[in-house]
Amino acid sequence: MTRWRPSCAPWAPTSSVSNDHLSPVQGRIFEETLPLLRAAGIEVLDDPDTSRNLILDTSQPGVRVLVVRASAVPIYVQQGGADLGITGRDTLIEHLAKWGGSVGAAGLYQPLDLGISRCRISVAVRVDFDYAFAVRQGARLRVATKYLAIAREFFAAKGVHADLIKLYGSVELAPLVGLSDAIIDLVSTGNTLRANQLVEVEHIMDISARLVVNQASLKLKQAPMRAIIDAFASAVAA
Ligand code: PRP
Repeated sequence: MTRWRPSCAPWAPTSSVSNDHLSPVQGRIFEETLPLLRAAGIEVLDDPDTSRNLILDTSQPGVRVLVVRASAVPIYVQQGGADLGITGRDTLIEHLAKWGGSVGAAGLYQPLDLGISRCRISVAVRVDFDYAFAVRQGARLRVATKYLAIAREFFAAKGVHADLIKLYGSVELAPLVGLSDAIIDLVSTGNTLRANQLVEVEHIMDISARLVVNQASLKLKQAPMRAIIDAFASAVAA
């Protein structure tokens, strides 16, 4: 299992199970994942806040939690470094873009929406930027984002010309210094936008944490992995 820094502020979770190893992520997602793990009978023994270990032992022999960046969770699970993982829908969509957006084509299986670490992806601009007018005029928009695939598809569907600028964090800075007209980013509380005089102008999609599973692992380790997936499903339904 892996822990990851969440995509949704202040934290989003990601987890994965490798061999017999479950990998949740660090951050809010990690914390929100812990009750699901407990429901599956898995207690993380190391304290992720104090430990520098990247592999955390659990109360279940053979089940370990890996500590990885949010964006790396689908990679670990796809490549078999972990049997299953918890990652944000945002991260998954960006990862799957290389496989035509298909979970199956990437050798993954997405059995559950865990319903935790909820947030949204939105378009935001400076409060003094007339986004509706710019779109009506057919202006060419400069848009900064971590989410190139999501941004590309969103603006293509709207018929808006957008020049995308890939950033890796602190995306809200871009319109403040004239790097972009707009951003596409995660919004959770909205505090970061407000603090930087930005305003949401379009809601693109809702985000939550998803369980992702390596298809080959599931075939080879049916019983232990099914037990974890079913326990997660029961905990989500409860
Ligand atoms: C995320 C996101 C926004 C912020 C939104 O950033 O990119 O910046 O959280 O949260 P809010 O609506 O509750 O203010 P994160 O903390 O992951 O850091 P980053 O900017 O480095 O990606």
